[in-house]
Amino acid sequence: MWGGRFASGPSAIMQEINASIGFDKRFYREDIAGSKAHASMLASVGVISKADCDAIHKGLDQVAGEIEAGKMVFDPALEDIHMHVESRLRELIGDAGARLHTGRSRNDQVATDFRLWTRGAIDALDGLFKGLLAALVDQAEKHADTVMPGFTHLQTAQPVTLGHHLMAYHEMLSRDRARLKDCRARVNESPLGAAALAGTSFPIDRHMTAKALGFDRPMANSLDAVSARDFALEFLSVLSISAVHLSRLADEIVLWASAAFRFLTLSDAYSTGSSIMPQKRNPDAAELIRAKVGRISGSMNGLMMVMKGLPLAYSKDMQEDKEPVFQAVDDFELCLAAMTGMIEDLKPNTDAMAAAAGQSFSTATDLADWLVRVLGLPFRDAHHVTGAVVKAAEQLGVDLENLPLEAMQTIEPRITSDVFDVLSVSASVSSRTSFGGTAPANVKKAVKAARKALK
Ligand code: ARG
Repeated sequence: MWGGRFASGPSAIMQEINASIGFDKRFYREDIAGSKAHASMLASVGVISKADCDAIHKGLDQVAGEIEAGKMVFDPALEDIHMHVESRLRELIGDAGARLHTGRSRNDQVATDFRLWTRGAIDALDGLFKGLLAALVDQAEKHADTVMPGFTHLQTAQPVTLGHHLMAYHEMLSRDRARLKDCRARVNESPLGAAALAGTSFPIDRHMTAKALGFDRPMANSLDAVSARDFALEFLSVLSISAVHLSRLADEIVLWASAAFRFLTLSDAYSTGSSIMPQKRNPDAAELIRAKVGRISGSMNGLMMVMKGLPLAYSKDMQEDKEPVFQAVDDFELCLAAMTGMIEDLKPNTDAMAAAAGQSFSTATDLADWLVRVLGLPFRDAHHVTGAVVKAAEQLGVDLENLPLEAMQTIEPRITSDVFDVLSVSASVSSRTSFGGTAPANVKKAVKAARKALK
Protein backbone atom coordinates (compact mmCIF):
# COMPACT_ATOMS: atom_id res chain seq x y z
CA MET A 1 0.00 0.00 0.00
CA TRP A 2 2.97 2.32 0.46
CA GLY A 3 5.50 0.71 -1.89
CA GLY A 4 6.25 4.07 -3.54
CA ARG A 5 8.61 5.24 -0.86
CA PHE A 6 10.19 1.93 0.12
CA ALA A 7 13.00 -0.01 -1.54
CA SER A 8 12.52 -3.27 0.35
CA GLY A 9 9.82 -4.96 2.41
CA PRO A 10 9.61 -5.34 6.18
CA SER A 11 11.41 -8.08 8.10
CA ALA A 12 9.43 -11.08 9.25
CA ILE A 13 9.59 -9.84 12.82
CA MET A 14 8.40 -6.39 11.77
CA GLN A 15 5.46 -8.03 10.09
CA GLU A 16 4.69 -10.10 13.12
CA ILE A 17 4.74 -7.25 15.61
CA ASN A 18 2.87 -4.98 13.22
CA ALA A 19 -0.01 -7.18 12.16
CA SER A 20 -3.41 -6.89 13.80
CA ILE A 21 -5.34 -9.07 11.36
CA GLY A 22 -5.25 -11.94 13.88
CA PHE A 23 -7.77 -10.07 15.99
CA ASP A 24 -9.22 -7.15 14.01
CA LYS A 25 -10.72 -9.49 11.40
CA ARG A 26 -13.43 -9.64 14.00
CA PHE A 27 -14.81 -6.39 12.70
CA TYR A 28 -14.92 -7.04 9.01
CA ARG A 29 -18.66 -6.32 8.92
CA GLU A 30 -18.17 -2.90 10.45
CA ASP A 31 -15.28 -2.19 8.10
CA ILE A 32 -17.38 -3.02 5.06
CA ALA A 33 -20.36 -1.02 6.33
CA GLY A 34 -18.07 1.98 6.92
CA SER A 35 -16.59 1.68 3.44
CA LYS A 36 -20.01 1.49 1.82
CA ALA A 37 -21.18 4.60 3.66
CA HIS A 38 -17.97 6.40 2.70
CA ALA A 39 -18.31 5.42 -0.98
CA SER A 40 -21.95 6.52 -1.16
CA MET A 41 -21.02 9.84 0.35
CA LEU A 42 -18.08 10.32 -2.04
CA ALA A 43 -20.46 9.72 -4.95
CA SER A 44 -23.11 12.01 -3.57
CA VAL A 45 -20.67 14.94 -3.28
CA GLY A 46 -19.21 14.16 -6.70
CA VAL A 47 -15.75 12.97 -5.64
CA ILE A 48 -16.25 9.56 -7.30
CA SER A 49 -18.67 8.59 -10.05
CA LYS A 50 -21.95 6.81 -9.48
CA ALA A 51 -20.59 3.88 -11.52
CA ASP A 52 -17.51 3.58 -9.27
CA CYS A 53 -19.73 3.74 -6.22
CA ASP A 54 -21.94 0.94 -7.53
CA ALA A 55 -18.90 -1.17 -8.34
CA ILE A 56 -17.52 -0.56 -4.84
CA HIS A 57 -20.78 -1.62 -3.21
CA LYS A 58 -21.04 -4.76 -5.32
CA GLY A 59 -17.40 -5.57 -4.76
CA LEU A 60 -17.67 -5.07 -1.00
CA ASP A 61 -20.69 -7.38 -0.88
CA GLN A 62 -18.62 -10.01 -2.60
CA VAL A 63 -15.73 -9.51 -0.18
CA ALA A 64 -18.15 -9.87 2.74
CA GLY A 65 -19.52 -13.07 1.22
CA GLU A 66 -16.02 -14.45 0.78
CA ILE A 67 -15.08 -13.69 4.38
CA GLU A 68 -18.31 -15.22 5.65
CA ALA A 69 -17.70 -18.33 3.57
CA GLY A 70 -14.23 -18.62 5.08
CA LYS A 71 -12.63 -18.05 1.69
CA MET A 72 -10.52 -15.03 2.60
CA VAL A 73 -6.90 -15.95 3.26
CA PHE A 74 -5.66 -13.75 6.08
CA ASP A 75 -2.08 -12.72 5.53
CA PRO A 76 -0.04 -10.81 8.13
CA ALA A 77 1.71 -9.03 5.27
CA LEU A 78 -1.57 -7.15 4.75
CA GLU A 79 -1.49 -6.02 8.39
CA ASP A 80 -5.13 -5.50 9.24
CA ILE A 81 -8.72 -5.97 8.21
CA HIS A 82 -8.85 -2.60 6.42
CA MET A 83 -6.04 -3.58 4.05
CA HIS A 84 -7.46 -7.07 3.52
CA VAL A 85 -10.84 -5.74 2.48
CA GLU A 86 -9.42 -2.99 0.32
CA SER A 87 -6.84 -5.13 -1.42
CA ARG A 88 -9.39 -7.82 -2.26
CA LEU A 89 -11.74 -5.12 -3.50
CA ARG A 90 -9.03 -3.82 -5.83
CA GLU A 91 -8.40 -7.33 -7.12
CA LEU A 92 -12.09 -7.64 -7.85
CA ILE A 93 -12.92 -4.22 -9.33
CA GLY A 94 -9.61 -2.52 -10.10
CA ASP A 95 -9.46 1.29 -10.26
CA ALA A 96 -12.84 1.94 -8.68
CA GLY A 97 -11.61 0.06 -5.62
CA ALA A 98 -8.48 2.17 -5.54
CA ARG A 99 -10.62 5.33 -5.34
CA LEU A 100 -12.38 4.21 -2.15
CA HIS A 101 -9.65 5.49 0.16
CA THR A 102 -10.09 9.10 -1.03
CA GLY A 103 -10.60 11.53 1.87
CA ARG A 104 -10.16 8.96 4.60
CA SER A 105 -7.34 7.17 6.42
CA ARG A 106 -7.05 3.96 8.34
CA ASN A 107 -6.94 6.16 11.41
CA ASP A 108 -10.53 7.33 11.12
CA GLN A 109 -11.48 4.00 9.59
CA VAL A 110 -10.30 1.92 12.55
CA ALA A 111 -11.88 4.30 15.04
CA THR A 112 -15.15 4.07 13.12
CA ASP A 113 -15.08 0.27 12.95
CA PHE A 114 -14.24 0.00 16.62
CA ARG A 115 -17.07 2.29 17.66
CA LEU A 116 -19.55 0.42 15.46
CA TRP A 117 -18.40 -2.90 16.89
CA THR A 118 -18.60 -1.62 20.47
CA ARG A 119 -22.08 -0.28 19.85
CA GLY A 120 -23.15 -3.71 18.60
CA ALA A 121 -21.60 -5.36 21.65
CA ILE A 122 -23.44 -2.94 23.94
CA ASP A 123 -26.75 -3.76 22.27
CA ALA A 124 -26.13 -7.49 22.55
CA LEU A 125 -25.16 -7.13 26.21
CA ASP A 126 -28.31 -5.16 26.88
CA GLY A 127 -30.35 -8.17 25.78
CA LEU A 128 -28.34 -10.48 28.03
CA PHE A 129 -28.77 -8.10 30.97
CA LYS A 130 -32.50 -8.18 30.40
CA GLY A 131 -32.49 -11.97 30.59
CA LEU A 132 -30.61 -11.99 33.87
CA LEU A 133 -32.79 -9.27 35.36
CA ALA A 134 -35.90 -11.23 34.38
CA ALA A 135 -34.50 -14.37 36.02
CA LEU A 136 -33.81 -12.45 39.24
CA VAL A 137 -37.30 -10.98 39.23
CA ASP A 138 -38.89 -14.42 38.70
CA GLN A 139 -37.01 -15.91 41.63
CA ALA A 140 -37.65 -12.87 43.80
CA GLU A 141 -41.36 -13.25 43.17
CA LYS A 142 -41.25 -16.93 44.10
CA HIS A 143 -39.34 -16.11 47.26
CA ALA A 144 -40.95 -12.89 48.36
CA ASP A 145 -41.87 -14.62 51.65
CA THR A 146 -38.85 -16.92 51.98
CA VAL A 147 -36.92 -15.85 55.06
CA MET A 148 -33.19 -16.01 55.46
CA PRO A 149 -30.65 -14.33 57.70
CA GLY A 150 -29.43 -10.93 56.60
CA PHE A 151 -25.78 -10.38 57.42
CA THR A 152 -23.41 -7.62 58.28
CA HIS A 153 -19.76 -8.61 58.69
CA LEU A 154 -21.09 -12.02 57.57
CA GLN A 155 -22.54 -12.27 61.09
CA THR A 156 -26.29 -12.81 61.39
CA ALA A 157 -27.85 -9.37 61.67
CA GLN A 158 -31.61 -9.31 61.01
CA PRO A 159 -33.92 -11.60 59.09
CA VAL A 160 -34.58 -10.63 55.50
CA THR A 161 -36.43 -12.24 52.63
CA LEU A 162 -34.64 -14.04 49.85
CA GLY A 163 -36.75 -12.05 47.40
CA HIS A 164 -35.41 -8.82 48.84
CA HIS A 165 -31.87 -10.10 48.66
CA LEU A 166 -32.26 -11.05 45.00
CA MET A 167 -33.89 -7.72 44.21
CA ALA A 168 -30.81 -6.00 45.64
CA TYR A 169 -28.85 -7.58 42.77
CA HIS A 170 -31.60 -6.57 40.41
CA GLU A 171 -30.98 -2.97 41.48
CA MET A 172 -27.21 -3.19 41.03
CA LEU A 173 -27.45 -4.83 37.63
CA SER A 174 -30.13 -2.39 36.49
CA ARG A 175 -27.73 0.43 37.25
CA ASP A 176 -25.06 -1.37 35.25
CA ARG A 177 -27.46 -1.63 32.37
CA ALA A 178 -28.22 2.09 32.65
CA ARG A 179 -24.49 2.85 32.72
CA LEU A 180 -24.12 0.85 29.54
CA LYS A 181 -26.82 2.95 27.94
CA ASP A 182 -25.09 6.18 29.02
CA CYS A 183 -21.83 4.86 27.65
CA ARG A 184 -23.49 4.03 24.33
CA ALA A 185 -24.33 7.69 23.80
CA ARG A 186 -20.62 8.61 23.88
CA VAL A 187 -19.62 5.59 21.79
CA ASN A 188 -22.14 6.51 19.12
CA GLU A 189 -20.33 9.43 17.45
CA SER A 190 -18.67 9.15 14.08
CA PRO A 191 -14.92 9.64 13.59
CA LEU A 192 -15.28 8.91 9.85
CA GLY A 193 -13.94 11.73 7.69
CA ALA A 194 -11.46 12.96 10.29
CA ALA A 195 -9.03 11.29 7.85
CA ALA A 196 -5.48 10.83 9.13
CA LEU A 197 -5.76 13.57 11.76
CA ALA A 198 -6.51 16.96 10.18
CA GLY A 199 -9.62 16.42 8.08
CA THR A 200 -9.50 16.58 4.30
CA SER A 201 -9.64 19.05 1.45
CA PHE A 202 -12.25 16.95 -0.37
CA PRO A 203 -15.81 18.28 0.00
CA ILE A 204 -16.90 15.30 2.12
CA ASP A 205 -20.14 15.21 4.06
CA ARG A 206 -19.43 13.76 7.50
CA HIS A 207 -23.02 14.24 8.60
CA MET A 208 -24.14 11.99 5.79
CA THR A 209 -21.80 9.12 6.68
CA ALA A 210 -22.58 9.52 10.38
CA LYS A 211 -26.28 9.20 9.66
CA ALA A 212 -25.85 6.27 7.28
CA LEU A 213 -23.96 4.34 9.97
CA GLY A 214 -26.50 5.10 12.68
CA PHE A 215 -24.22 7.45 14.60
CA ASP A 216 -25.82 10.38 16.40
CA ARG A 217 -23.37 12.92 14.97
CA PRO A 218 -19.89 13.30 13.52
CA MET A 219 -17.21 13.94 16.12
CA ALA A 220 -16.46 17.65 16.27
CA ASN A 221 -12.65 17.62 16.24
CA SER A 222 -10.62 15.58 13.75
CA LEU A 223 -7.65 15.16 16.12
CA ASP A 224 -9.92 13.95 18.88
CA ALA A 225 -11.84 11.71 16.51
CA VAL A 226 -8.77 9.60 15.64
CA SER A 227 -7.09 9.81 19.08
CA ALA A 228 -9.96 9.19 21.48
CA ARG A 229 -10.30 5.80 23.09
CA ASP A 230 -12.14 6.94 26.18
CA PHE A 231 -15.25 5.36 24.68
CA ALA A 232 -13.52 1.98 25.02
CA LEU A 233 -12.19 2.80 28.49
CA GLU A 234 -15.63 3.86 29.63
CA PHE A 235 -17.13 0.69 28.22
CA LEU A 236 -14.50 -1.42 29.99
CA SER A 237 -15.09 0.40 33.25
CA VAL A 238 -18.82 -0.23 33.00
CA LEU A 239 -18.10 -3.91 32.41
CA SER A 240 -15.63 -3.95 35.30
CA ILE A 241 -18.13 -2.47 37.73
CA SER A 242 -20.77 -4.91 36.61
CA ALA A 243 -18.32 -7.82 36.81
CA VAL A 244 -17.77 -6.82 40.46
CA HIS A 245 -21.51 -7.14 41.03
CA LEU A 246 -21.64 -10.52 39.34
CA SER A 247 -18.65 -11.59 41.38
CA ARG A 248 -20.38 -10.69 44.64
CA LEU A 249 -23.47 -12.64 43.67
CA ALA A 250 -21.29 -15.54 42.54
CA ASP A 251 -19.48 -15.47 45.85
CA GLU A 252 -22.76 -15.72 47.73
CA ILE A 253 -23.76 -18.68 45.61
CA VAL A 254 -20.45 -20.37 46.47
CA LEU A 255 -20.99 -19.69 50.19
CA TRP A 256 -24.63 -20.69 50.16
CA ALA A 257 -23.93 -23.96 48.38
CA SER A 258 -21.40 -24.95 51.04
CA ALA A 259 -22.23 -27.60 53.66
CA ALA A 260 -21.82 -24.99 56.38
CA PHE A 261 -24.63 -22.85 54.92
CA ARG A 262 -26.74 -25.38 53.00
CA PHE A 263 -28.89 -22.49 51.70
CA LEU A 264 -29.09 -23.92 48.24
CA THR A 265 -28.34 -26.89 46.07
CA LEU A 266 -26.75 -26.15 42.74
CA SER A 267 -28.35 -27.72 39.72
CA ASP A 268 -26.44 -30.45 37.90
CA ALA A 269 -26.29 -28.13 34.92
CA TYR A 270 -24.09 -25.64 36.78
CA SER A 271 -22.02 -27.91 39.01
CA THR A 272 -19.08 -30.17 38.48
CA GLY A 273 -17.89 -33.26 40.30
CA SER A 274 -14.50 -34.24 41.58
CA SER A 275 -12.25 -36.81 39.97
CA ILE A 276 -11.30 -38.23 43.37
CA MET A 277 -14.08 -37.35 45.82
CA PRO A 278 -17.28 -39.00 44.60
CA GLN A 279 -19.54 -36.99 46.91
CA LYS A 280 -18.47 -33.60 45.56
CA ARG A 281 -20.69 -31.06 43.83
CA ASN A 282 -18.59 -28.03 43.09
CA PRO A 283 -19.84 -24.54 42.17
CA ASP A 284 -17.30 -24.04 39.37
CA ALA A 285 -19.45 -21.74 37.26
CA ALA A 286 -19.96 -19.38 40.19
CA GLU A 287 -16.27 -19.51 41.04
CA LEU A 288 -15.31 -18.68 37.47
CA ILE A 289 -17.73 -15.76 37.36
CA ARG A 290 -16.17 -14.59 40.62
CA ALA A 291 -12.76 -14.81 38.98
CA LYS A 292 -13.58 -13.16 35.64
CA VAL A 293 -13.68 -9.74 37.21
CA GLY A 294 -9.90 -10.06 37.46
CA ARG A 295 -9.56 -10.46 33.72
CA ILE A 296 -12.16 -7.82 32.90
CA SER A 297 -10.76 -5.13 35.15
CA GLY A 298 -7.32 -6.24 33.94
CA SER A 299 -8.45 -5.38 30.42
CA MET A 300 -9.55 -1.96 31.57
CA ASN A 301 -6.28 -1.31 33.36
CA GLY A 302 -4.32 -2.65 30.41
CA LEU A 303 -5.93 -0.22 28.00
CA MET A 304 -5.57 2.65 30.48
CA MET A 305 -1.82 2.00 30.47
CA VAL A 306 -1.69 1.77 26.68
CA MET A 307 -3.38 5.16 26.34
CA LYS A 308 -1.61 7.08 29.08
CA GLY A 309 0.98 9.53 27.81
CA LEU A 310 0.17 9.13 24.10
CA PRO A 311 0.59 12.38 22.22
CA LEU A 312 -2.09 13.36 19.70
CA ALA A 313 -3.00 12.07 17.25
CA TYR A 314 -2.81 8.37 16.23
CA SER A 315 0.08 6.24 17.45
CA LYS A 316 0.47 2.57 16.65
CA ASP A 317 0.19 1.85 20.36
CA MET A 318 -3.51 2.28 19.80
CA GLN A 319 -3.67 -0.88 17.73
CA GLU A 320 -3.47 -2.63 21.13
CA ASP A 321 -6.89 -1.24 22.04
CA LYS A 322 -9.01 -4.00 20.56
CA GLU A 323 -7.98 -7.24 22.24
CA PRO A 324 -8.76 -6.05 25.78
CA VAL A 325 -12.23 -5.03 24.65
CA PHE A 326 -12.86 -8.25 22.73
CA GLN A 327 -11.68 -10.30 25.66
CA ALA A 328 -13.72 -8.39 28.20
CA VAL A 329 -16.86 -8.68 26.08
CA ASP A 330 -16.38 -12.42 25.55
CA ASP A 331 -15.79 -12.97 29.26
CA PHE A 332 -18.63 -10.75 30.34
CA GLU A 333 -21.14 -12.28 27.94
CA LEU A 334 -20.28 -15.69 29.28
CA CYS A 335 -20.65 -14.45 32.86
CA LEU A 336 -24.10 -13.02 32.15
CA ALA A 337 -25.24 -16.19 30.41
CA ALA A 338 -23.91 -18.50 33.14
CA MET A 339 -25.34 -16.34 35.91
CA THR A 340 -28.72 -16.27 34.19
CA GLY A 341 -28.70 -20.06 34.00
CA MET A 342 -27.72 -20.42 37.64
CA ILE A 343 -30.40 -18.00 38.82
CA GLU A 344 -33.06 -19.73 36.71
CA ASP A 345 -32.07 -23.09 38.21
CA LEU A 346 -31.77 -21.78 41.76
CA LYS A 347 -33.13 -24.28 44.29
CA PRO A 348 -33.07 -22.61 47.69
CA ASN A 349 -33.21 -24.83 50.74
CA THR A 350 -35.92 -22.79 52.42
CA ASP A 351 -35.87 -24.87 55.62
CA ALA A 352 -32.18 -24.28 56.18
CA MET A 353 -32.62 -20.60 55.40
CA ALA A 354 -35.52 -20.28 57.83
CA ALA A 355 -33.63 -22.13 60.56
CA ALA A 356 -30.58 -19.93 60.11
CA ALA A 357 -32.77 -16.82 60.03
CA GLY A 358 -33.99 -17.59 63.55
CA GLN A 359 -30.56 -18.23 64.99
CA SER A 360 -28.13 -15.88 66.71
CA PHE A 361 -30.90 -13.76 68.27
CA SER A 362 -31.65 -12.24 64.89
CA THR A 363 -34.83 -10.57 66.17
CA ALA A 364 -33.07 -8.70 68.99
CA THR A 365 -33.60 -5.40 67.15
CA ASP A 366 -37.32 -6.18 67.04
CA LEU A 367 -37.30 -6.56 70.82
CA ALA A 368 -35.50 -3.24 71.24
CA ASP A 369 -37.96 -1.57 68.86
CA TRP A 370 -40.88 -3.03 70.89
CA LEU A 371 -39.43 -1.58 74.12
CA VAL A 372 -39.30 1.81 72.40
CA ARG A 373 -42.75 1.59 70.85
CA VAL A 374 -44.71 0.00 73.72
CA LEU A 375 -42.84 0.98 76.88
CA GLY A 376 -41.58 4.32 75.60
CA LEU A 377 -37.92 3.56 76.41
CA PRO A 378 -35.33 5.74 74.66
CA PHE A 379 -33.68 3.57 71.97
CA ARG A 380 -30.29 3.54 73.70
CA ASP A 381 -31.88 2.20 76.92
CA ALA A 382 -33.90 -0.32 74.93
CA HIS A 383 -30.66 -1.46 73.31
CA HIS A 384 -29.12 -2.00 76.74
CA VAL A 385 -32.11 -3.94 78.08
CA THR A 386 -32.20 -6.09 74.95
CA GLY A 387 -28.50 -6.84 75.34
CA ALA A 388 -29.18 -8.15 78.84
CA VAL A 389 -32.12 -10.24 77.57
CA VAL A 390 -29.92 -11.76 74.84
CA LYS A 391 -27.32 -12.59 77.46
CA ALA A 392 -29.94 -14.34 79.59
CA ALA A 393 -31.20 -16.32 76.61
CA GLU A 394 -27.66 -17.29 75.71
CA GLN A 395 -27.06 -18.53 79.25
CA LEU A 396 -30.24 -20.62 79.14
CA GLY A 397 -29.36 -21.89 75.67
CA VAL A 398 -32.63 -20.76 74.06
CA ASP A 399 -33.52 -18.24 71.40
CA LEU A 400 -35.51 -15.12 72.19
CA GLU A 401 -38.81 -16.65 71.12
CA ASN A 402 -38.39 -19.45 73.70
CA LEU A 403 -37.08 -17.37 76.56
CA PRO A 404 -39.60 -17.50 79.46
CA LEU A 405 -41.40 -14.19 80.05
CA GLU A 406 -40.26 -14.20 83.70
CA ALA A 407 -36.64 -14.22 82.60
CA MET A 408 -37.27 -11.06 80.59
CA GLN A 409 -39.22 -9.48 83.40
CA THR A 410 -36.28 -9.95 85.77
CA ILE A 411 -34.47 -7.52 83.50
CA GLU A 412 -37.38 -5.20 82.63
CA PRO A 413 -40.52 -5.84 84.75
CA ARG A 414 -42.85 -3.97 82.37
CA ILE A 415 -42.36 -6.46 79.51
CA THR A 416 -45.62 -8.32 78.79
CA SER A 417 -46.37 -11.48 76.81
CA ASP A 418 -47.32 -9.26 73.83
CA VAL A 419 -43.61 -9.03 73.17
CA PHE A 420 -43.62 -12.52 71.64
CA ASP A 421 -45.65 -11.15 68.71
CA VAL A 422 -42.55 -9.41 67.39
CA LEU A 423 -39.92 -12.02 68.14
CA SER A 424 -40.61 -14.46 65.33
CA VAL A 425 -38.68 -14.23 62.09
CA SER A 426 -41.80 -13.89 59.98
CA ALA A 427 -43.16 -11.10 62.19
CA SER A 428 -39.80 -9.39 61.94
CA VAL A 429 -39.65 -9.34 58.14
CA SER A 430 -43.34 -8.49 57.76
CA SER A 431 -42.90 -5.46 59.98
CA ARG A 432 -40.13 -3.97 57.85
CA THR A 433 -42.45 -2.05 55.56
CA SER A 434 -40.46 1.18 55.44
CA PHE A 435 -39.73 2.26 51.86
CA GLY A 436 -37.13 -0.12 50.44
CA GLY A 437 -37.40 -2.46 53.45
CA THR A 438 -37.47 -6.25 53.30
CA ALA A 439 -41.18 -6.91 54.00
CA PRO A 440 -42.73 -9.43 51.58
CA ALA A 441 -45.32 -6.80 50.61
CA ASN A 442 -42.50 -4.49 49.54
CA VAL A 443 -40.77 -7.24 47.58
CA LYS A 444 -43.98 -7.96 45.69
CA LYS A 445 -44.33 -4.29 44.82
CA ALA A 446 -40.69 -4.11 43.70
CA VAL A 447 -41.15 -7.19 41.55
CA LYS A 448 -44.18 -5.67 39.89
CA ALA A 449 -42.39 -2.43 39.15
CA ALA A 450 -39.36 -4.30 37.82
CA ARG A 451 -41.49 -6.41 35.50
CA LYS A 452 -43.08 -3.29 34.12
CA ALA A 453 -39.69 -1.69 33.54
CA LEU A 454 -38.41 -4.80 31.78
CA LYS A 455 -41.27 -4.84 29.26
N1 ARG B 1 -4.35 -1.69 12.32
C1 ARG B 1 -4.36 -0.33 12.77
C2 ARG B 1 -4.97 -0.22 14.17
O1 ARG B 1 -5.56 -1.15 14.58
C3 ARG B 1 -5.14 0.52 11.84
C4 ARG B 1 -4.69 1.92 11.81
C5 ARG B 1 -3.34 2.02 11.22
N2 ARG B 1 -2.97 3.37 11.01
C6 ARG B 1 -1.70 3.72 10.77
N3 ARG B 1 -1.46 4.96 10.64
N4 ARG B 1 -0.76 2.83 10.79
O2 ARG B 1 -4.85 0.76 14.84
